[in-house]
Amino acid sequence: MRKIIIAIDGYSSCGKSTLAKALAKKLSYVFIDSGAMYRAITLYFLREHIDWNNEEKVLEALDNIKLHFYYNDEEGTSDMYLNDENVELLIRDMLVSENVSEVAAIKAVREFAVAQQQLMGKKKGIVMDGRDIGTTVFPYAQLKIFVTADNGIRVERRFKELYAKNPNITIEEVKNNLEMRDYIDSNREFSPLRKAEDAVILDNSNLTREEQLAIALSWAKEKKLQVHEQD
Ligand code: DC
Repeated sequence: MRKIIIAIDGYSSCGKSTLAKALAKKLSYVFIDSGAMYRAITLYFLREHIDWNNEEKVLEALDNIKLHFYYNDEEGTSDMYLNDENVELLIRDMLVSENVSEVAAIKAVREFAVAQQQLMGKKKGIVMDGRDIGTTVFPYAQLKIFVTADNGIRVERRFKELYAKNPNITIEEVKNNLEMRDYIDSNREFSPLRKAEDAVILDNSNLTREEQLAIALSWAKEKKLQVHEQD
């Protein structure tokens, strides 16, 4: 059966990646966490002290950035590599989270990342999660899912995740970071976070991972069938 493209968008910490990963596994599709690319670029800018308000410096820096996803056998997913260094853990750091939305709002950065994301979709059979996947990266994706969840639940989920790595983190810090990122992501000039008109909403506030996966899987199967019948 012909493979399709599945775009999963939504606010920060809605569980998009968890769902996308599980869906890709079930369908034997490739999973791409597009946010990891913006995080890796941010890590590079921070390390190299790049002034990202200076367009020339940004373009120069982007010339020196090579991003790749390599499969991690143990995890069963792909890790983000920045210039051949595995940065999968480093890019989840709070300092990166605090700056990534600003970096991701820069036009040149978006063009750089989107071009690579579109190449990854050439073969279809991909589940990509992010903020603009259904609107900008793959406007022709056969299935677009917009994930939402109650704000309090999102903060709690993110806090638990970060607390496991850093017990000094406070719930206030997590809440402020989420609010700030949602604001910047939704209000930026270039491809802001929006629900694509033809996206289906998945509110997972009161759903288990298994329930969400079952819903998404049924949508994917329906779309695959439609594509098959059109062939
Ligand atoms: O999904 P995430 O939290 O790892 O994403 C990190 C940041 O990257 C997020 O604040 C917004 C940005 N992002 C984006 O602008 N477009 C995407 N397709 C994915 C992420």
